[in-house]
Amino acid sequence: MTLLQKLDYGPAPESDQPAQQWLESHNRNFGFYLNGNWELPKDAELFSVENPATGEQLATCRQAGSREIVQALSGAREAQPKWEKLTGHQRAKYLYALAREMQQHSRVLSVLETLDNGKPFRESRDIDIPLAVRHFYHHAGWAQLVEEEYPQHVAKGVVGQIIPWNFPLLMLAWKVAPALACGNTVLLKPAEQTPLTALWFAECCHRIGLPAGVFQLLTGDGRTGEDLVCSKGLDKIAFTGSTSVGKRIRELTADSDCKLTLELGGKSPFIVFEDADLDAAVEGVVDAIWLNQGEVCCAGSRLLLQESIAEKMVGKLQQRMQQLRVGNPLDKAIDIGSLVSKVQLERVKRLTTEGAENGATLWQPQISLPETGCFFAPTLAIDVDPSSVLAQEEIFGPVAATMTFRTPSEALELANNTMYGLAASVWSENINQALHLAPSLQAGVVWVNCTNQFDAACGFGGYRESGYGREGGREGLLEYMKPKLTAFTVKKLKRPDVQSLGHKNTLKGSEIHRTAKFFIAGKQARPDSGTVRPVWNKDGSLAGTVGQGNRKDLRNAVEAAQKASSWSKSSGHLRAQILFYFAENLSLRRQELESRLQQLLGCKSNEAQQEVDSSIQRCFHYAAWADKFEGVLHQPPQGLLVPVLNEPLGVIGLICPDENPLLSFLSILLPSLAAGNCSIVIPSPSYPLIANDLIQVMETSDVPAGAVNLISGNPAEMIQTLAAHEDLDGIWVFGTEEEVRQAKRLSTSNLKQVWGNEGQVVDWYSPAAQGREWLRQASQSKNIWIPFGE
Ligand code: NAI
Repeated sequence: MTLLQKLDYGPAPESDQPAQQWLESHNRNFGFYLNGNWELPKDAELFSVENPATGEQLATCRQAGSREIVQALSGAREAQPKWEKLTGHQRAKYLYALAREMQQHSRVLSVLETLDNGKPFRESRDIDIPLAVRHFYHHAGWAQLVEEEYPQHVAKGVVGQIIPWNFPLLMLAWKVAPALACGNTVLLKPAEQTPLTALWFAECCHRIGLPAGVFQLLTGDGRTGEDLVCSKGLDKIAFTGSTSVGKRIRELTADSDCKLTLELGGKSPFIVFEDADLDAAVEGVVDAIWLNQGEVCCAGSRLLLQESIAEKMVGKLQQRMQQLRVGNPLDKAIDIGSLVSKVQLERVKRLTTEGAENGATLWQPQISLPETGCFFAPTLAIDVDPSSVLAQEEIFGPVAATMTFRTPSEALELANNTMYGLAASVWSENINQALHLAPSLQAGVVWVNCTNQFDAACGFGGYRESGYGREGGREGLLEYMKPKLTAFTVKKLKRPDVQSLGHKNTLKGSEIHRTAKFFIAGKQARPDSGTVRPVWNKDGSLAGTVGQGNRKDLRNAVEAAQKASSWSKSSGHLRAQILFYFAENLSLRRQELESRLQQLLGCKSNEAQQEVDSSIQRCFHYAAWADKFEGVLHQPPQGLLVPVLNEPLGVIGLICPDENPLLSFLSILLPSLAAGNCSIVIPSPSYPLIANDLIQVMETSDVPAGAVNLISGNPAEMIQTLAAHEDLDGIWVFGTEEEVRQAKRLSTSNLKQVWGNEGQVVDWYSPAAQGREWLRQASQSKNIWIPFGE
């Protein structure tokens, strides 16, 4: 052994004195920061905050209850209009001051974060705190520019934010900075395990003179979180945490029109091709799964290795793992610190044991762990079956599961074999191959030859059960604003009693039966139930009959839509061509459609003409957009390029209203189509034949089979099946308040995105009944990080 190899690391601890002194200055006793003051109610339940690496008690905090939530809400509500009315420059100065303060106290913040969470000081100092500071600087800039760049938007209002324990200050920054920049006021609840840097931040808000009520801090556990979610009066909730709690929040907010963004769990693939730089990939794995002890939502916890290099890569990894040092998080020469709590340690132990029972081989390096504290050795699980708990469940610990693949398509299949979709990392020296794979990966972030890169200018957020909404960049900013102009009126939408629609009249002998079929997979199909109902014209004559859709019809339609995925992959230009062609064919049928509208609705000819004209214009509108709804290019400071793709949600269920049945049908269908989605459309219950009239238009316009499927039926029943369908990615409900709520309640199982009219009548002629916001709702953004240079 050479002298250098024999040299061991000496202890290199960072002093915890400044952080301990700060805790002492508060007598280690904290309350809530409400309306610009510290409140320490005597009767509040107390909880203890501990250093997980030592078990030492750091502070005592208070559990906020409904009384404090009401107090926080009313203060935030009162402060909001004044805060929003400040000029962008004034708000920017506050955010800038916060960034400055955080930067100037970065040492104490880093130590505090490490004491509270157990993460290595090196990471708090070099990653968490600088990124949090960068968020405030970046959003100070947005506060300055927001009115100029988004003149058609206003703040959402009062926002509730619930954050986890893995990156306490960074998650605060991700949420608070954009919210304040846009003119919202905030009620923040940090995780009960790690409230200290949030408490420090509240003090900082006080110090810089942030107006009272703009930032309210409530501490407490999940009970406080749930009370906050259930409190009426929030305009938006932003949550980061486990998928199970995310689903619960979706359910709890189903009955309100409070907006929701959810940043949830992940099981991200880390794909290594045989032509990758393996040494770089090994360092990538270290960052992917051993950063922050693997307690990272986007951790590269599934290591997918091309078969030809799998053995070599595992050998290199084992060698590298042997060098990792686990220990006192304050020691600057430590790679892996302590897990956040005993509960988390037990969870990691339980899941790895279960994984071994499922057949995986567990490998850990021969390194020493501290005797006390919540430490777990870095672990490689080899030959993991794709169905194993190690490949499917988020472990949130330093455990990587390896699997092998032969071809890129096998890699893709394995990568997407998860309910999650937060991030993916692709390693290949062949950039063409990596970029070819990126659009097919079901993930909101794709890192090419890098991993765990974050920046305030870039969007972060998931596909599928990893949640929805984005944080960071322009994408994240829009989550804290709403368009000034809306097509939704204050009138509540009412449906006619669908059961009674069929029984209005008796059939006259002279009329010819016209039976409108469903349209599934590009073919007209009879209803599975074998049941039809008559549809009447306004004058009481028979317009035709329509089928009554059931579960089976909907299942067939969803299957057809899934198979039509080539539509999603087609170019914007092709989609534009088809939509222009659609408009052309629609205009050829102008007269037929006008007289159909007059017969069905009993409207005047100029009204029918107006509706058909507007419908043709709407087609042109989305044909025009189809090749222009492009992403942006972010340029974060790390020297990477981050193109953003606007990708379709996938398969969407669309529920249409009765009002302006032709125009509303197209206004709902076209943005979804233009963005590349395939859909199952439930047309207006009273005038479904209008949609059937369009089948031939679709056929002659080259809309591919399965891209649009039409099933008529009772909206409430259709929503029930569609919202609960596991293969549907979104549902737009333009119906009654109860229908929208029902969709939200039932859509939790796979967290499909729900959007619609919130039960209000829509003015389909309004300029706001079309445009970018509709396309935004029909899509999700993917940030692809590409390094450049040698
Ligand atoms: P959690 O989801 O329970 O906690 C996150 C936050 O939600 C905390 O502030 C907590 O107090 C709050 N919360 C808990 N129950 C709530 C409720 N019913 N309503 C409103 N807020 C509620 O996560 P937990 O239990 O701390 O960790 C369990 C697992 O969750 C981890 O092992 C990990 O797999 C995952 N997780 C994922 C995170 C992510 O960033 N995606 C972060 C933390 C945990």
